[in-house]
Amino acid sequence: MSEPTIPSTTKSMDAIMALCKRRGFVFQASDIYGGINGFWDYGPLGAQLKKNLREAWWQDMIMNPCWGRKGPNGERVKCVPLETCIIQHPKVWEASGHLAGFADPMRKCPGCGHFVRADQYWEYMVQWSEWLASLIQNFEPHTGRYDTEVLMKWARTKGKRLAPNLALVKNPEVTLSFFATRVNGQPDVPPDMKELVGYIGTEQLHQTGLQEPCPRCGAPLGPPAPFKLMFETWSGVLQTDENKVFLRPETAQGVFLHFKNVVDSTRVRIPFGIGNTGRSFRNEVTPRNYTYRSREFEQAELEFFCHPDESPAWYAFWRDFRMDWWKSIGLAGENLILREHDKDELSHYSVGTSDVEYRFPFTAPGYGELEGIAHRGDYDLTQHQKHSKVKLDYFDTTRGELLPNGGRKGERYIPHCIEPAAGLDRGALALICEGYTVDPSRPSPEFLKLHPRIAPIKAAVFPLMDKDGLPEIGEKLYDELFAKFGRTGAIDFDTKQNIGKRYARMDEAGCPFCFTIDADTVKDQTVTVRDRDTGAQQRIGIDKVAGYLGEKLGV
Ligand code: GAP
Repeated sequence: MSEPTIPSTTKSMDAIMALCKRRGFVFQASDIYGGINGFWDYGPLGAQLKKNLREAWWQDMIMNPCWGRKGPNGERVKCVPLETCIIQHPKVWEASGHLAGFADPMRKCPGCGHFVRADQYWEYMVQWSEWLASLIQNFEPHTGRYDTEVLMKWARTKGKRLAPNLALVKNPEVTLSFFATRVNGQPDVPPDMKELVGYIGTEQLHQTGLQEPCPRCGAPLGPPAPFKLMFETWSGVLQTDENKVFLRPETAQGVFLHFKNVVDSTRVRIPFGIGNTGRSFRNEVTPRNYTYRSREFEQAELEFFCHPDESPAWYAFWRDFRMDWWKSIGLAGENLILREHDKDELSHYSVGTSDVEYRFPFTAPGYGELEGIAHRGDYDLTQHQKHSKVKLDYFDTTRGELLPNGGRKGERYIPHCIEPAAGLDRGALALICEGYTVDPSRPSPEFLKLHPRIAPIKAAVFPLMDKDGLPEIGEKLYDELFAKFGRTGAIDFDTKQNIGKRYARMDEAGCPFCFTIDADTVKDQTVTVRDRDTGAQQRIGIDKVAGYLGEKLGV
Protein backbone atom coordinates (compact mmCIF):
# COMPACT_ATOMS: atom_id res chain seq x y z
CA MET A 1 0.00 0.00 0.00
CA SER A 2 2.85 2.40 0.66
CA GLU A 3 4.59 1.89 -2.68
CA PRO A 4 4.48 4.90 -5.01
CA THR A 5 1.43 4.95 -7.23
CA ILE A 6 1.15 6.79 -10.52
CA PRO A 7 2.70 10.26 -10.22
CA SER A 8 -0.04 12.80 -9.64
CA THR A 9 1.35 14.79 -12.56
CA THR A 10 -0.29 12.41 -15.01
CA LYS A 11 -3.72 12.39 -13.39
CA SER A 12 -6.64 14.43 -14.66
CA MET A 13 -8.27 16.65 -12.06
CA ASP A 14 -11.46 16.75 -14.13
CA ALA A 15 -11.67 12.96 -14.03
CA ILE A 16 -11.02 12.91 -10.26
CA MET A 17 -13.71 15.52 -9.64
CA ALA A 18 -16.16 13.61 -11.84
CA LEU A 19 -15.52 10.42 -9.87
CA CYS A 20 -15.94 12.29 -6.58
CA LYS A 21 -19.32 13.62 -7.64
CA ARG A 22 -20.51 10.39 -9.27
CA ARG A 23 -19.66 8.26 -6.25
CA GLY A 24 -20.64 10.76 -3.56
CA PHE A 25 -17.30 11.87 -2.17
CA VAL A 26 -17.60 15.62 -2.74
CA PHE A 27 -20.52 17.81 -3.83
CA GLN A 28 -20.56 21.50 -4.45
CA ALA A 29 -22.30 23.25 -1.56
CA SER A 30 -25.79 24.55 -2.49
CA ASP A 31 -25.51 22.53 -5.67
CA ILE A 32 -29.17 22.86 -6.74
CA TYR A 33 -28.84 26.65 -6.56
CA GLY A 34 -25.80 26.63 -8.80
CA GLY A 35 -23.25 26.26 -5.99
CA ILE A 36 -21.51 28.87 -3.90
CA ASN A 37 -17.92 29.77 -4.67
CA GLY A 38 -15.41 28.42 -2.16
CA PHE A 39 -17.72 26.01 -0.31
CA TRP A 40 -17.81 22.23 -0.66
CA ASP A 41 -19.81 19.48 1.02
CA TYR A 42 -18.92 15.84 1.48
CA GLY A 43 -21.23 13.09 0.28
CA PRO A 44 -21.75 9.76 2.05
CA LEU A 45 -18.36 8.31 1.07
CA GLY A 46 -16.45 11.58 1.49
CA ALA A 47 -17.93 12.27 4.93
CA GLN A 48 -16.77 8.86 6.15
CA LEU A 49 -13.36 9.22 4.51
CA LYS A 50 -12.85 12.56 6.23
CA LYS A 51 -14.03 11.13 9.54
CA ASN A 52 -11.47 8.33 9.19
CA LEU A 53 -8.75 10.89 8.47
CA ARG A 54 -9.78 13.02 11.45
CA GLU A 55 -9.85 9.97 13.71
CA ALA A 56 -6.46 8.76 12.47
CA TRP A 57 -5.08 12.19 13.36
CA TRP A 58 -6.84 12.20 16.73
CA GLN A 59 -5.56 8.72 17.54
CA ASP A 60 -1.95 9.24 16.42
CA MET A 61 -1.57 12.81 17.70
CA ILE A 62 -3.55 12.83 20.94
CA MET A 63 -4.60 9.41 22.20
CA ASN A 64 -1.39 7.55 21.32
CA PRO A 65 0.85 10.42 20.20
CA CYS A 66 3.50 9.52 17.64
CA TRP A 67 2.66 5.80 17.96
CA GLY A 68 4.36 5.72 21.36
CA ARG A 69 7.65 7.12 20.06
CA LYS A 70 9.81 8.86 22.61
CA GLY A 71 10.43 12.60 22.19
CA PRO A 72 13.83 14.33 22.30
CA ASN A 73 13.53 14.41 26.13
CA GLY A 74 13.62 10.59 26.10
CA GLU A 75 10.02 10.29 27.31
CA ARG A 76 6.74 9.37 25.64
CA VAL A 77 4.99 12.31 24.02
CA LYS A 78 1.98 13.59 26.00
CA CYS A 79 -1.03 15.30 24.43
CA VAL A 80 -4.61 16.13 25.43
CA PRO A 81 -7.63 17.17 23.36
CA LEU A 82 -9.66 20.36 23.43
CA GLU A 83 -12.72 21.57 21.54
CA THR A 84 -13.16 25.30 21.22
CA CYS A 85 -15.73 27.70 19.75
CA ILE A 86 -15.68 29.11 16.25
CA ILE A 87 -16.59 32.53 17.65
CA GLN A 88 -14.36 33.95 20.35
CA HIS A 89 -14.00 37.31 22.05
CA PRO A 90 -13.01 39.85 19.35
CA LYS A 91 -9.94 40.79 21.38
CA VAL A 92 -8.52 37.33 20.64
CA TRP A 93 -7.97 38.35 17.03
CA GLU A 94 -6.48 41.66 18.06
CA ALA A 95 -3.97 39.83 20.24
CA SER A 96 -3.20 37.14 17.67
CA GLY A 97 -2.44 39.74 15.02
CA HIS A 98 -5.21 38.55 12.68
CA LEU A 99 -7.22 41.77 12.85
CA ALA A 100 -4.31 43.92 11.79
CA GLY A 101 -2.41 41.60 9.51
CA PHE A 102 -4.68 38.90 8.09
CA ALA A 103 -5.32 40.43 4.68
CA ASP A 104 -4.38 39.73 1.08
CA PRO A 105 -3.41 42.45 -1.37
CA MET A 106 -6.17 42.69 -4.01
CA ARG A 107 -6.44 44.43 -7.34
CA LYS A 108 -9.77 45.41 -8.80
CA CYS A 109 -10.46 45.61 -12.51
CA PRO A 110 -12.30 48.84 -13.28
CA GLY A 111 -13.57 47.26 -16.51
CA CYS A 112 -15.41 44.12 -15.36
CA GLY A 113 -15.18 44.43 -11.56
CA HIS A 114 -13.14 41.22 -11.25
CA PHE A 115 -10.74 40.93 -8.28
CA VAL A 116 -7.28 39.43 -8.62
CA ARG A 117 -4.91 38.60 -5.78
CA ALA A 118 -1.91 40.80 -6.42
CA ASP A 119 0.55 38.13 -5.34
CA GLN A 120 -1.09 35.53 -7.62
CA TYR A 121 -1.42 37.70 -10.69
CA TRP A 122 1.52 36.17 -12.47
CA GLU A 123 0.26 32.68 -11.79
CA TYR A 124 -2.75 33.44 -14.01
CA MET A 125 -0.53 34.81 -16.67
CA VAL A 126 1.96 31.97 -16.46
CA GLN A 127 -0.88 29.57 -17.22
CA TRP A 128 -0.96 31.11 -20.66
CA SER A 129 2.77 31.24 -21.06
CA GLU A 130 3.14 28.34 -23.47
CA TRP A 131 0.52 29.75 -25.79
CA LEU A 132 1.83 33.23 -25.48
CA ALA A 133 5.30 32.20 -26.54
CA SER A 134 3.88 30.75 -29.71
CA LEU A 135 1.32 33.50 -30.23
CA ILE A 136 3.85 36.22 -30.01
CA GLN A 137 5.95 34.44 -32.58
CA ASN A 138 2.95 33.85 -34.86
CA PHE A 139 1.32 37.25 -34.70
CA GLU A 140 3.14 40.42 -35.49
CA PRO A 141 2.40 42.53 -32.46
CA HIS A 142 3.11 46.00 -33.77
CA THR A 143 1.49 45.90 -37.17
CA GLY A 144 -0.92 42.95 -37.19
CA ARG A 145 -4.43 42.79 -35.79
CA TYR A 146 -5.50 40.11 -33.38
CA ASP A 147 -8.68 38.78 -34.77
CA THR A 148 -10.59 36.70 -32.25
CA GLU A 149 -11.61 34.17 -34.89
CA VAL A 150 -7.98 33.74 -35.96
CA LEU A 151 -6.99 33.36 -32.37
CA MET A 152 -9.61 30.70 -31.65
CA LYS A 153 -8.67 28.82 -34.81
CA TRP A 154 -5.03 28.95 -33.92
CA ALA A 155 -5.78 27.64 -30.42
CA ARG A 156 -7.77 24.74 -31.89
CA THR A 157 -4.80 23.70 -34.02
CA LYS A 158 -2.85 23.48 -30.76
CA GLY A 159 -5.54 21.25 -29.27
CA LYS A 160 -6.67 24.02 -26.88
CA ARG A 161 -10.03 25.64 -26.30
CA LEU A 162 -9.99 29.26 -25.27
CA ALA A 163 -12.70 30.19 -22.81
CA PRO A 164 -14.70 33.09 -24.27
CA ASN A 165 -14.23 35.16 -21.13
CA LEU A 166 -10.43 35.07 -21.23
CA ALA A 167 -8.81 38.42 -21.64
CA LEU A 168 -6.94 36.90 -24.54
CA VAL A 169 -10.21 36.30 -26.37
CA LYS A 170 -12.20 39.30 -25.23
CA ASN A 171 -9.54 41.86 -25.71
CA PRO A 172 -6.67 40.21 -27.54
CA GLU A 173 -5.10 43.39 -28.80
CA VAL A 174 -4.64 44.90 -25.39
CA THR A 175 -3.58 41.65 -23.81
CA LEU A 176 -1.16 40.54 -26.45
CA SER A 177 0.32 43.93 -27.07
CA PHE A 178 0.89 44.14 -23.37
CA PHE A 179 2.99 41.02 -23.48
CA ALA A 180 4.49 41.71 -26.86
CA THR A 181 5.77 45.15 -25.91
CA ARG A 182 7.54 43.49 -23.06
CA VAL A 183 8.94 40.55 -24.98
CA ASN A 184 10.06 42.02 -28.26
CA GLY A 185 13.47 43.51 -28.53
CA GLN A 186 14.33 42.88 -24.90
CA PRO A 187 17.86 41.73 -24.27
CA ASP A 188 18.54 38.70 -22.07
CA VAL A 189 15.06 37.23 -22.37
CA PRO A 190 15.20 33.91 -20.53
CA PRO A 191 14.32 30.96 -22.76
CA ASP A 192 11.72 29.51 -20.44
CA MET A 193 8.44 31.30 -20.83
CA LYS A 194 7.50 31.02 -17.18
CA GLU A 195 10.59 32.91 -16.22
CA LEU A 196 10.01 35.21 -19.12
CA VAL A 197 6.55 36.22 -18.00
CA GLY A 198 7.78 36.78 -14.48
CA TYR A 199 10.62 38.79 -15.91
CA ILE A 200 8.32 40.86 -18.06
CA GLY A 201 6.02 41.50 -15.16
CA THR A 202 8.59 42.53 -12.65
CA GLU A 203 11.43 44.12 -14.60
CA GLN A 204 9.82 45.66 -17.61
CA LEU A 205 6.68 46.97 -16.03
CA HIS A 206 8.50 49.67 -14.19
CA GLN A 207 10.33 50.77 -17.32
CA THR A 208 7.27 51.05 -19.57
CA GLY A 209 4.80 52.32 -17.00
CA LEU A 210 2.10 50.16 -18.60
CA GLN A 211 -0.35 48.49 -16.24
CA GLU A 212 -1.09 44.79 -16.12
CA PRO A 213 -4.29 43.71 -17.83
CA CYS A 214 -7.17 42.02 -16.06
CA PRO A 215 -6.98 38.28 -16.77
CA ARG A 216 -10.71 38.36 -17.57
CA CYS A 217 -11.27 41.39 -19.78
CA GLY A 218 -7.86 42.87 -20.50
CA ALA A 219 -8.50 46.32 -18.99
CA PRO A 220 -5.61 47.69 -16.91
CA LEU A 221 -5.94 46.55 -13.28
CA GLY A 222 -6.14 48.98 -10.39
CA PRO A 223 -3.51 49.21 -7.63
CA PRO A 224 -3.28 46.63 -4.84
CA ALA A 225 -5.36 47.26 -1.71
CA PRO A 226 -5.65 45.06 1.41
CA PHE A 227 -8.63 42.73 1.59
CA LYS A 228 -9.53 41.35 5.03
CA LEU A 229 -9.81 37.60 5.16
CA MET A 230 -11.90 37.14 8.31
CA PHE A 231 -15.65 36.66 8.04
CA GLU A 232 -17.58 39.02 10.29
CA THR A 233 -20.97 38.71 11.93
CA TRP A 234 -22.74 39.98 15.05
CA SER A 235 -23.38 38.33 18.38
CA GLY A 236 -26.55 39.67 20.00
CA VAL A 237 -29.61 41.55 18.89
CA LEU A 238 -27.99 44.79 17.79
CA GLN A 239 -25.86 44.73 14.69
CA THR A 240 -23.47 47.36 16.00
CA ASP A 241 -19.69 47.62 16.00
CA GLU A 242 -19.64 46.63 19.69
CA ASN A 243 -21.38 43.36 18.83
CA LYS A 244 -19.18 42.54 15.89
CA VAL A 245 -17.51 39.11 16.09
CA PHE A 246 -15.42 37.02 13.73
CA LEU A 247 -15.49 33.44 12.51
CA ARG A 248 -12.14 31.94 13.49
CA PRO A 249 -9.54 31.76 10.73
CA GLU A 250 -7.64 29.00 12.60
CA THR A 251 -8.35 26.56 15.42
CA ALA A 252 -5.00 27.29 17.07
CA GLN A 253 -6.02 30.40 19.02
CA GLY A 254 -8.65 28.50 21.02
CA VAL A 255 -5.82 26.40 22.43
CA PHE A 256 -3.68 29.33 23.59
CA LEU A 257 -6.69 30.79 25.42
CA HIS A 258 -7.00 27.63 27.53
CA PHE A 259 -3.33 26.92 28.15
CA LYS A 260 -3.71 27.87 31.81
CA ASN A 261 -7.06 26.08 32.23
CA VAL A 262 -5.58 22.86 30.86
CA VAL A 263 -2.50 23.05 33.11
CA ASP A 264 -4.71 23.77 36.14
CA SER A 265 -7.31 21.09 35.41
CA THR A 266 -5.14 18.16 34.33
CA ARG A 267 -1.84 16.59 35.35
CA VAL A 268 -0.03 17.47 32.12
CA ARG A 269 3.34 19.12 32.60
CA ILE A 270 5.69 20.71 30.09
CA PRO A 271 6.46 19.36 27.52
CA PHE A 272 2.95 18.51 26.32
CA GLY A 273 0.58 19.21 23.47
CA ILE A 274 -3.04 20.29 23.11
CA GLY A 275 -4.92 19.22 19.98
CA ASN A 276 -7.95 20.95 18.50
CA THR A 277 -9.86 20.09 15.34
CA GLY A 278 -12.69 21.93 13.64
CA ARG A 279 -13.95 24.30 11.01
CA SER A 280 -12.09 27.48 10.17
CA PHE A 281 -13.18 30.25 7.85
CA ARG A 282 -11.25 32.50 5.53
CA ASN A 283 -12.84 34.77 2.99
CA GLU A 284 -10.26 33.70 0.42
CA VAL A 285 -10.03 36.10 -2.49
CA THR A 286 -9.71 33.39 -5.05
CA PRO A 287 -10.99 30.07 -3.74
CA ARG A 288 -9.86 27.50 -6.25
CA ASN A 289 -8.50 24.10 -7.07
CA TYR A 290 -11.54 22.25 -5.81
CA THR A 291 -11.43 21.84 -2.02
CA TYR A 292 -7.77 22.91 -1.84
CA ARG A 293 -8.49 26.58 -1.18
CA SER A 294 -11.97 26.94 0.29
CA ARG A 295 -13.64 29.58 2.39
CA GLU A 296 -14.81 27.06 4.99
CA PHE A 297 -12.45 24.20 5.79
CA GLU A 298 -11.40 21.92 8.59
CA GLN A 299 -8.14 22.02 10.47
CA ALA A 300 -6.44 19.59 12.84
CA GLU A 301 -3.90 21.53 14.86
CA LEU A 302 -1.64 20.60 17.72
CA GLU A 303 0.03 23.23 19.89
CA PHE A 304 2.97 21.59 21.60
CA PHE A 305 4.39 23.54 24.55
CA CYS A 306 7.98 23.10 25.66
CA HIS A 307 10.89 24.83 27.35
CA PRO A 308 12.54 27.40 25.02
CA ASP A 309 15.89 25.54 25.15
CA GLU A 310 14.25 22.32 23.97
CA SER A 311 12.16 23.91 21.24
CA PRO A 312 14.58 23.37 18.30
CA ALA A 313 14.71 19.62 19.07
CA TRP A 314 10.91 19.39 19.36
CA TYR A 315 10.49 21.34 16.14
CA ALA A 316 12.70 18.81 14.30
CA PHE A 317 10.88 15.93 16.01
CA TRP A 318 7.41 17.05 14.94
CA ARG A 319 8.54 17.88 11.41
CA ASP A 320 9.85 14.33 10.96
CA PHE A 321 6.89 12.66 12.61
CA ARG A 322 4.35 14.53 10.49
CA MET A 323 6.08 13.39 7.30
CA ASP A 324 6.08 9.80 8.56
CA TRP A 325 2.42 10.10 9.47
CA TRP A 326 1.24 11.23 6.04
CA LYS A 327 3.29 8.41 4.53
CA SER A 328 1.67 5.90 6.91
CA ILE A 329 -1.79 6.64 5.52
CA GLY A 330 -0.86 6.31 1.90
CA LEU A 331 0.93 9.39 0.54
CA ALA A 332 4.07 8.18 -1.03
CA GLY A 333 7.24 8.66 -2.95
CA GLU A 334 7.97 11.72 -5.00
CA ASN A 335 4.52 13.21 -4.53
CA LEU A 336 5.30 14.15 -0.92
CA ILE A 337 8.03 16.52 0.23
CA LEU A 338 9.06 18.47 3.30
CA ARG A 339 10.05 22.04 2.52
CA GLU A 340 11.72 24.43 4.95
CA HIS A 341 10.51 28.02 4.54
CA ASP A 342 12.96 30.73 3.59
CA LYS A 343 13.27 33.46 6.20
CA ASP A 344 11.26 35.95 4.11
CA GLU A 345 8.35 33.49 3.82
CA LEU A 346 7.81 33.15 7.56
CA SER A 347 4.54 34.32 9.18
CA HIS A 348 4.68 37.24 11.58
CA TYR A 349 4.90 34.91 14.57
CA SER A 350 7.13 32.17 13.22
CA VAL A 351 10.81 31.62 13.94
CA GLY A 352 10.88 28.59 11.65
CA THR A 353 8.36 26.71 9.52
CA SER A 354 8.40 23.61 7.35
CA ASP A 355 5.59 22.54 5.09
CA VAL A 356 4.57 19.02 4.21
CA GLU A 357 3.69 19.47 0.56
CA TYR A 358 1.89 17.22 -1.89
CA ARG A 359 2.13 17.28 -5.65
CA PHE A 360 -1.53 17.70 -6.56
CA PRO A 361 -2.45 17.30 -10.24
CA PHE A 362 -3.22 21.05 -10.34
CA THR A 363 0.09 22.09 -8.75
CA ALA A 364 2.28 19.63 -10.67
CA PRO A 365 5.14 19.75 -11.37
CA GLY A 366 5.07 21.98 -8.26
CA TYR A 367 3.67 21.14 -4.84
CA GLY A 368 0.89 22.48 -2.60
CA GLU A 369 0.86 22.80 1.19
CA LEU A 370 -0.84 20.04 3.12
CA GLU A 371 0.36 20.95 6.57
CA GLY A 372 2.61 23.57 8.14
CA ILE A 373 4.86 22.77 11.09
CA ALA A 374 5.69 26.09 12.71
CA HIS A 375 7.96 27.06 15.56
CA ARG A 376 5.80 29.86 16.98
CA GLY A 377 8.17 30.71 19.82
CA ASP A 378 6.37 32.37 22.75
CA TYR A 379 4.49 34.75 20.45
CA ASP A 380 0.92 33.65 21.15
CA LEU A 381 1.05 33.16 24.91
CA THR A 382 2.92 36.46 25.27
CA GLN A 383 0.39 38.29 23.13
CA HIS A 384 -2.62 36.88 24.99
CA GLN A 385 -0.96 37.57 28.34
CA LYS A 386 -0.44 41.17 27.26
CA HIS A 387 -3.97 41.70 25.89
CA SER A 388 -5.91 39.76 28.55
CA LYS A 389 -3.68 40.82 31.47
CA VAL A 390 -3.86 37.21 32.70
CA LYS A 391 -0.53 35.53 33.48
CA LEU A 392 0.14 32.72 31.04
CA ASP A 393 3.61 31.75 32.18
CA TYR A 394 4.46 28.34 33.56
CA PHE A 395 6.25 27.35 36.74
CA ASP A 396 8.49 24.38 36.00
CA THR A 397 9.38 22.48 39.17
CA THR A 398 11.82 20.23 37.33
CA ARG A 399 14.21 23.10 36.56
CA GLY A 400 16.30 25.64 38.39
CA GLU A 401 18.92 25.34 41.06
CA LEU A 402 19.33 22.02 42.87
CA LEU A 403 18.15 22.35 46.49
CA PRO A 404 19.72 20.61 49.50
CA ASN A 405 16.61 18.41 49.79
CA GLY A 406 17.28 17.03 46.29
CA GLY A 407 14.43 18.98 44.71
CA ARG A 408 14.70 21.93 42.32
CA LYS A 409 14.10 25.59 42.97
CA GLY A 410 11.91 25.82 39.88
CA GLU A 411 11.88 28.11 36.86
CA ARG A 412 9.15 30.43 35.59
CA TYR A 413 8.94 30.96 31.85
CA ILE A 414 6.59 31.39 28.89
CA PRO A 415 6.74 28.10 27.02
CA HIS A 416 7.60 27.96 23.36
CA CYS A 417 5.11 26.39 21.00
CA ILE A 418 5.64 24.00 18.09
CA GLU A 419 2.55 23.77 15.91
CA PRO A 420 1.86 20.99 13.41
CA ALA A 421 -1.20 22.46 11.62
CA ALA A 422 -2.87 20.15 9.11
CA GLY A 423 -5.79 20.76 6.79
CA LEU A 424 -8.21 17.85 6.70
CA ASP A 425 -9.81 18.88 3.40
CA ARG A 426 -6.44 19.15 1.72
CA GLY A 427 -5.49 15.85 3.34
CA ALA A 428 -8.63 14.15 2.01
CA LEU A 429 -8.03 15.62 -1.42
CA ALA A 430 -4.40 14.49 -1.49
CA LEU A 431 -5.42 10.95 -0.48
CA ILE A 432 -8.06 10.84 -3.20
CA CYS A 433 -5.63 12.19 -5.83
CA GLU A 434 -2.92 9.76 -4.74
CA GLY A 435 -5.31 6.81 -4.74
CA TYR A 436 -6.94 7.65 -8.06
CA THR A 437 -5.71 5.08 -10.56
CA VAL A 438 -6.64 4.41 -14.16
CA ASP A 439 -6.18 0.96 -15.64
CA PRO A 440 -8.16 0.45 -18.87
CA SER A 441 -7.60 -3.31 -18.72
CA ARG A 442 -9.82 -3.66 -15.65
CA PRO A 443 -13.62 -3.89 -15.56
CA SER A 444 -13.38 -0.77 -13.36
CA PRO A 445 -10.91 1.34 -15.36
CA GLU A 446 -10.93 3.98 -12.61
CA PHE A 447 -10.41 3.01 -9.01
CA LEU A 448 -9.23 4.47 -5.72
CA LYS A 449 -6.28 2.88 -3.96
CA LEU A 450 -7.16 4.26 -0.54
CA HIS A 451 -5.25 3.07 2.50
CA PRO A 452 -7.48 0.60 4.42
CA ARG A 453 -7.39 2.87 7.45
CA ILE A 454 -8.83 5.75 5.44
CA ALA A 455 -11.16 3.86 3.08
CA PRO A 456 -14.80 4.76 3.84
CA ILE A 457 -16.00 1.22 3.08
CA LYS A 458 -13.75 -1.33 4.74
CA ALA A 459 -15.12 -4.48 3.16
CA ALA A 460 -17.97 -5.83 1.08
CA VAL A 461 -19.79 -9.13 1.43
CA PHE A 462 -21.20 -10.41 -1.86
CA PRO A 463 -23.30 -13.56 -2.14
CA LEU A 464 -22.67 -14.52 -5.77
CA MET A 465 -26.36 -15.28 -6.32
CA ASP A 466 -29.51 -14.19 -4.57
CA LYS A 467 -30.59 -17.80 -3.91
CA ASP A 468 -29.52 -21.26 -2.72
CA GLY A 469 -28.91 -20.05 0.83
CA LEU A 470 -26.01 -17.80 -0.20
CA PRO A 471 -27.62 -14.54 1.04
CA GLU A 472 -28.20 -16.10 4.46
CA ILE A 473 -24.53 -17.12 4.77
CA GLY A 474 -23.56 -13.65 3.58
CA GLU A 475 -25.75 -11.94 6.13
CA LYS A 476 -24.19 -13.94 8.92
CA LEU A 477 -20.72 -12.92 7.78
CA TYR A 478 -21.88 -9.33 7.38
CA ASP A 479 -23.21 -9.29 10.95
CA GLU A 480 -19.90 -10.60 12.25
CA LEU A 481 -17.82 -8.05 10.32
CA PHE A 482 -20.17 -5.21 11.19
CA ALA A 483 -19.95 -6.03 14.90
CA LYS A 484 -16.15 -6.11 14.76
CA PHE A 485 -15.33 -3.31 12.30
CA GLY A 486 -18.49 -1.24 11.85
CA ARG A 487 -17.06 1.53 14.03
CA THR A 488 -14.13 1.99 11.61
CA GLY A 489 -16.27 2.46 8.49
CA ALA A 490 -19.00 0.87 6.43
CA ILE A 491 -19.33 -2.81 5.55
CA ASP A 492 -21.21 -3.24 2.28
CA PHE A 493 -23.64 -6.06 1.58
CA ASP A 494 -25.10 -6.57 -1.87
CA THR A 495 -26.79 -9.50 -3.52
CA LYS A 496 -27.84 -7.83 -6.77
CA GLN A 497 -26.06 -7.14 -10.11
CA ASN A 498 -23.41 -9.27 -11.74
CA ILE A 499 -20.31 -9.69 -9.62
CA GLY A 500 -18.05 -7.70 -11.99
CA LYS A 501 -20.25 -4.65 -11.60
CA ARG A 502 -20.32 -5.05 -7.84
CA TYR A 503 -16.51 -5.23 -7.74
CA ALA A 504 -16.25 -2.19 -10.00
CA ARG A 505 -18.53 -0.20 -7.70
CA MET A 506 -16.38 -1.09 -4.70
CA ASP A 507 -13.16 -0.28 -6.60
CA GLU A 508 -14.41 3.22 -7.34
CA ALA A 509 -15.38 3.66 -3.70
CA GLY A 510 -11.88 2.60 -2.64
CA CYS A 511 -13.10 -0.48 -0.72
CA PRO A 512 -9.99 -2.63 -0.21
CA PHE A 513 -11.53 -6.09 0.17
CA CYS A 514 -14.55 -7.95 -1.18
CA PHE A 515 -15.61 -11.34 0.21
CA THR A 516 -17.67 -13.43 -2.18
CA ILE A 517 -19.87 -16.33 -1.15
CA ASP A 518 -20.57 -18.93 -3.81
CA ALA A 519 -21.70 -22.54 -4.19
CA ASP A 520 -18.34 -23.81 -2.87
CA THR A 521 -18.90 -21.88 0.35
CA VAL A 522 -21.83 -24.17 1.08
CA LYS A 523 -19.64 -27.21 0.48
CA ASP A 524 -16.36 -26.28 2.12
CA GLN A 525 -17.01 -23.09 4.17
CA THR A 526 -14.53 -21.00 2.18
CA VAL A 527 -15.04 -17.62 0.54
CA THR A 528 -13.19 -15.69 -2.15
CA VAL A 529 -11.22 -12.62 -1.03
CA ARG A 530 -10.64 -10.13 -3.82
CA ASP A 531 -7.91 -7.55 -3.45
CA ARG A 532 -8.86 -4.15 -4.88
CA ASP A 533 -5.39 -3.13 -6.04
CA THR A 534 -4.33 -6.29 -7.83
CA GLY A 535 -7.71 -7.87 -8.53
CA ALA A 536 -6.11 -11.10 -7.22
CA GLN A 537 -8.44 -13.63 -5.63
CA GLN A 538 -7.79 -16.31 -3.03
CA ARG A 539 -9.92 -18.64 -0.97
CA ILE A 540 -9.94 -18.54 2.79
CA GLY A 541 -12.13 -20.17 5.42
CA ILE A 542 -15.22 -18.14 6.29
CA ASP A 543 -14.19 -18.40 9.94
CA LYS A 544 -10.87 -16.70 9.07
CA VAL A 545 -12.42 -13.64 7.38
CA ALA A 546 -12.66 -11.44 10.48
CA GLY A 547 -9.07 -12.20 11.47
CA TYR A 548 -7.87 -11.53 7.92
CA LEU A 549 -9.69 -8.20 7.75
CA GLY A 550 -8.61 -7.16 11.25
CA GLU A 551 -4.97 -7.72 10.32
CA LYS A 552 -5.29 -5.75 7.08
CA LEU A 553 -7.12 -2.87 8.76
CA GLY A 554 -4.66 -2.84 11.64
CA VAL A 555 -7.42 -2.99 14.27
N1 GAP B 1 -2.52 27.86 12.87
C1 GAP B 1 -1.68 27.95 11.72
C2 GAP B 1 -2.40 27.92 10.47
O1 GAP B 1 -3.61 28.05 10.42
P1 GAP B 1 -2.07 27.71 7.91
O2 GAP B 1 -0.86 27.25 7.13
O3 GAP B 1 -2.68 28.99 7.53
O4 GAP B 1 -1.60 27.71 9.42
C3 GAP B 1 -2.88 25.25 8.26
O5 GAP B 1 -3.17 26.58 7.87
C4 GAP B 1 -3.47 24.29 7.25
O6 GAP B 1 -4.85 24.57 7.05
C5 GAP B 1 -2.85 24.42 5.84
O7 GAP B 1 -1.65 23.68 5.74
C6 GAP B 1 -3.94 23.85 4.98
O8 GAP B 1 -3.87 22.44 4.94
C7 GAP B 1 -5.21 24.26 5.71
N2 GAP B 1 -5.79 25.46 5.05
C8 GAP B 1 -5.44 26.73 5.22
N3 GAP B 1 -6.19 27.54 4.44
C9 GAP B 1 -7.03 26.74 3.76
C10 GAP B 1 -8.08 26.96 2.80
N4 GAP B 1 -8.42 28.17 2.42
N5 GAP B 1 -8.75 25.89 2.31
C11 GAP B 1 -8.43 24.64 2.71
N6 GAP B 1 -7.47 24.37 3.62
C12 GAP B 1 -6.78 25.40 4.14
